[in-house]
Amino acid sequence: MDSQFIALVATLVVSVHGCRKTELPPISHTMFPEGFIFGAATAAYQVEGGWNADGKGPNIWDNITHERPSFVANNNNGDVAADSYHRYKEDVQLLENIGFQMYRFSVSWARILPNGRINNVNKAGIDYYMNLIDELLAKGIQPMVTIYHWDLPQDLENIGGWTNPEIVTIFEDFADLVFRTYGDKVKWWITINEPYMVTKGYGADSFAPAAYLDLHGIVEYQVGRNLLLAHAKAYRLYQKKYSQQKGKLSMAFTGIFSIPKTDSQEDIAAAERTYQLTFGWFSHPVFVGDYPQEMKNRIEQLSRQEGRNTSRLPPFTQDEIDEIRGSADFYGLNHYSTVFVAEGTDQSSSDPKPSAMSDIGVTTSVDPRWPTGASVWLKVVPQGIRLNVKKICEEYCNPDIIITENGYDDDGSKFTDDPERIYYLETYYAELRQTIYTDGCNLKGHISWSLLDIFEWRDGYTKRFGLVHVDYNNSNRTRTMKKSAYWLKNYIEMHKIYYK
Ligand code: BGC
Repeated sequence: MDSQFIALVATLVVSVHGCRKTELPPISHTMFPEGFIFGAATAAYQVEGGWNADGKGPNIWDNITHERPSFVANNNNGDVAADSYHRYKEDVQLLENIGFQMYRFSVSWARILPNGRINNVNKAGIDYYMNLIDELLAKGIQPMVTIYHWDLPQDLENIGGWTNPEIVTIFEDFADLVFRTYGDKVKWWITINEPYMVTKGYGADSFAPAAYLDLHGIVEYQVGRNLLLAHAKAYRLYQKKYSQQKGKLSMAFTGIFSIPKTDSQEDIAAAERTYQLTFGWFSHPVFVGDYPQEMKNRIEQLSRQEGRNTSRLPPFTQDEIDEIRGSADFYGLNHYSTVFVAEGTDQSSSDPKPSAMSDIGVTTSVDPRWPTGASVWLKVVPQGIRLNVKKICEEYCNPDIIITENGYDDDGSKFTDDPERIYYLETYYAELRQTIYTDGCNLKGHISWSLLDIFEWRDGYTKRFGLVHVDYNNSNRTRTMKKSAYWLKNYIEMHKIYYK
């Protein structure tokens, strides 16, 4: 073949519409490509316990569960949880037994900085995560560290939490300490877990701090803005001070993933709007720059109809747009389920108006045939995860993608017998392989949520996401692998044997 022709073919493979395009690997119906990462995840408040151990300060979940116990099912709280603060070695042993190559966990801000600020560092907290990281590395498991997974130090909430613009530099300082302390050992970072869900603790009472309820429709966007700026500051700081550590950073993005209920133009537009006003709210500023145009237009227009002079969505300055744009080295996707959406306003909805939710202006529904997890919102819709990944490839120029959370919950009644979770994993994996082999997306790994049964926020211990069962009635918090953990162990092992 003549060399000019080869060069032309090469260009066609790597460049489609100016975006990077991967060469499709050979089709495999059962396995992911060589090097695909399998991991499991947890988050500090959901597993650690030790809520006031060794100098840890209180956070918003300690506070709300103690002040308002009925906020959570059965008055449960995370005071002890799975006791991973004392039992982390058992957790790492389980990760090794199942064969995971990565563990995504979060650092508890108030365990490291009891008041949230860097003038008071808790050495015991620093040591805890150092020990955990060392234990992982000794077993060849890569840590992926989430810097913020929803457990804001109470002292910071007392100055307005994520509504206060001061939080941006306070978070940057915290991130600086974490990068400086652990950065030579940690190569994967998630700055903030699901900023979209964090906004639901403000203006709505889905999560702690359940505050500013009367500012719904306004406060969510202020909080979202501060979350994006805090993330970008941490990213730029890492680039400036720690780039020699060669880590990769992202957020764990989420939103409402939907399929149009009918093929009418209105419903197709409704699904697109749902994407842009949830996922796009955070991913578009990071991967393209600024909020999605549709989001800006929609909230501006609604604000005018409400008789306001300015949009409820506060704009970014050009400098802020530039700082946020490009602040991710991969796309971290948390995906569980999918809904149908149709154009129109849901009259039966309890969402306050205006609110970030009602601004979308759609009605959601599900197919009654979809199997369900213990959580009513968790419908098993494997095709949705493929569409979500594909949307990311198309929307953001085919970035590297890691599924940073994905999993299924049971109600614990069958102990370790969980064929439904195996079905979920198997069907979602099949669709994910298609995103690689058929759609050409750069999907690099899958992190199961969660390693253990966890404290499931407002649902307490009534919903169990673990591959490993935790006995909350036993003071040892006995861990027992569920059938799905054995299934996954074999599946990962098969890859190791094949690619040896
Ligand atoms: C959160 C987890 C949570 C999971 C299941 C995700 O939104 O990051 O903390 O346990 O969903 O609800």
